[in-house]
Amino acid sequence: MKHLIDIMELSTEEIDRMIMRANDIIDDPKKYSHICQGRKLATLFFEPSTRTRLSFEAAMYELGGNVLGFSEAQSSSAAKGESVADTVRTVGSYADIIAMRHPKEGAALVGSSKSTVPVINAGDGGHNHPTQTLTDLLTINREKGRFDNLTVGLCGDLKFGRTVHSLISAMSRYENVSFVLISPEELKVPEYLKEEVIKKKGINFVETTDLEGVMPQLDILYMTRVQRERFFSEQEYIRLKDSYILTTDKLANAKEELSILHPLPRVNEISLSVDDDPRAKYFEQVLNGKYIRMALILEFLEGIK
Ligand code: NCD
Repeated sequence: MKHLIDIMELSTEEIDRMIMRANDIIDDPKKYSHICQGRKLATLFFEPSTRTRLSFEAAMYELGGNVLGFSEAQSSSAAKGESVADTVRTVGSYADIIAMRHPKEGAALVGSSKSTVPVINAGDGGHNHPTQTLTDLLTINREKGRFDNLTVGLCGDLKFGRTVHSLISAMSRYENVSFVLISPEELKVPEYLKEEVIKKKGINFVETTDLEGVMPQLDILYMTRVQRERFFSEQEYIRLKDSYILTTDKLANAKEELSILHPLPRVNEISLSVDDDPRAKYFEQVLNGKYIRMALILEFLEGIK
């Protein structure tokens, strides 16, 4: 049984195939509108979500399939003390594929261990978020037409931001990619990622606190929210939450072809005026999330009766 817990479980060929598929769906959605008839997706969300859960559900509906699930732990038997493994095993009797989100790192892996249907990690604590990365990759593909020869700036909470971790892993596979890691000292990329991914692959990277100083180099600027729910201290969160606020002024020296991405939700880190800049691509990214999840569901259900 194939699951998707970490983006690195997908080969570059599989990623390319899903991106091609997603682009084909965008061009000709009708062709796909009945392809999952009689199939069911379960969304098990033990943690809040808007885009991830609803784009998974919209994706399955647009493929002609059906959806069941829950959107908070309190309305499931988790509230009675049921283990994640038992919940997932149970839902496997009712659905053909499961997308799950959980506040604990490793929960999707545990959930998949006894599952009889594919389990897709829709975010596990501050760890990974592979389907957001597929969304980001589709957006980069559509905006830039390539994954190599790019300078990617990641800005904000690089410590707890799971989308950042998965995106760094995924982009580290491509040729001549450089990372510019922009964060407060307290929210730097975890050491394990730096050692086991970035340095191991000999990738060019710099760490800085200065967003404006590096702006002219960037092909992609990936802004992120400070992850309040992962902080041990509310005071610390309040101190760091507005470390970076992207405004139109700060874009003065940016490249004409810069793409500004954000997994959303935005709190305060991109001012509303930036939304009108043609380089702002985060709402295109939202829509791409639905198409790539359609391609992902097809990839995982193909061949399964
Ligand atoms: C992200 C997440 O849940 O990690 N949101 C999303 O899935 N688009 C980013 C975030 O919550 O900051």
